[in-house]
Amino acid sequence: MTTEVGTDVQKARALLERGLLVSIPTETVYGLAANAYDRTAVVKIFEVKARPSFDPLIVHSNSVDRIREFVEEIPTWAEPLVERFWPGPLTLVLRKKSIIPDIVTSGFETVGVRIPRHPLTLDLLEGLTVPLAAPSANPFGYISPTTAQHVQDQLDGRISYILDGGACEVGVESTIVGEVEGVPTILRVGGVGFEAIRALVPDVVMKSGKATSTMMPGSLPSHYAPRTRLVIGSPDFGKYAPEEIGCLAFTAVNQKIPIAHQEVLSMKGDLTEAASRLFHAMRELDKLGLRVIYAERVPDLGIGLAINDRLERASFHAA
Ligand code: TXA
Ligand code: MG
Repeated sequence: MTTEVGTDVQKARALLERGLLVSIPTETVYGLAANAYDRTAVVKIFEVKARPSFDPLIVHSNSVDRIREFVEEIPTWAEPLVERFWPGPLTLVLRKKSIIPDIVTSGFETVGVRIPRHPLTLDLLEGLTVPLAAPSANPFGYISPTTAQHVQDQLDGRISYILDGGACEVGVESTIVGEVEGVPTILRVGGVGFEAIRALVPDVVMKSGKATSTMMPGSLPSHYAPRTRLVIGSPDFGKYAPEEIGCLAFTAVNQKIPIAHQEVLSMKGDLTEAASRLFHAMRELDKLGLRVIYAERVPDLGIGLAINDRLERASFHAA
């Protein structure tokens, strides 16, 4: 059985209204969407992704007015972010109304919400009377998809339709901001840079560093990982032969390693371009069946923070 890939928004809408799953394009990564108000439909998302039920989903809508139907309030500190970044790669964690089933939020009183910036998906949402719950459309723990082909490679036959909106423009997931003990806090770095958020919310803080048991799986260390071992740093030729090594480089190839085993994220050193290519490059290297992939960190600026964060998670291999 193969899942149809196409650009038929009406078809996607009809399937979602029937409680089925459709993969949708966004500017960040492809999502795996279901009617957020339909518990039975949402359960299917967790099944198809093999996602643990304690990992909450993000709810997508196309307007702030509609978002008010399912969140208690948009706090004052968040207003300038809404104004500036929606539609766009920003998720706000807000107090939910009871219309959002508990399964969507894994029992939390809050819900992650965003307005994605993709014309097909905005068109789709416009004609729906319900919002869409949608995590990234990858099996749990694997790299997020940034093309319709990536989704089909992994979820073929298991979902009803893939709405093809081309390659994702941003390429890493949204930045998530919520309140922790009353303080606006960046819970996950992503498509909107820390500096850009702090310019509008001066007292925002970055969620403190390393994994704890109370963290969301989206922030667990071993996440977004390829199958091949990924190491951050320069190749160790004492440990591996050049032919066994892949390179995920920022601007330049390594002369000692076969060129076919290398992906350069941005020859001109542009972080935005690098982010848009990151997950595709990881997937391409992962297909080669090498022993190890060496990845180079990028500058910790703007979206570079999100690139380094995803590299770190991809490099974490449980013992
Ligand atoms: O760019 C994105 O955000 C993409 C596209 C499809 O919108 N979605 C995405 O969803 O990355 P997902 O499911 O892969 O990551 C969702 C993460 C969760 O793992 C969790 O860390 C956080 O969002 N999250 C969702 N609801 C939350 C809540 N109520 N409280 C705290 N964190 C929440
Ligand atoms: Mg995900």
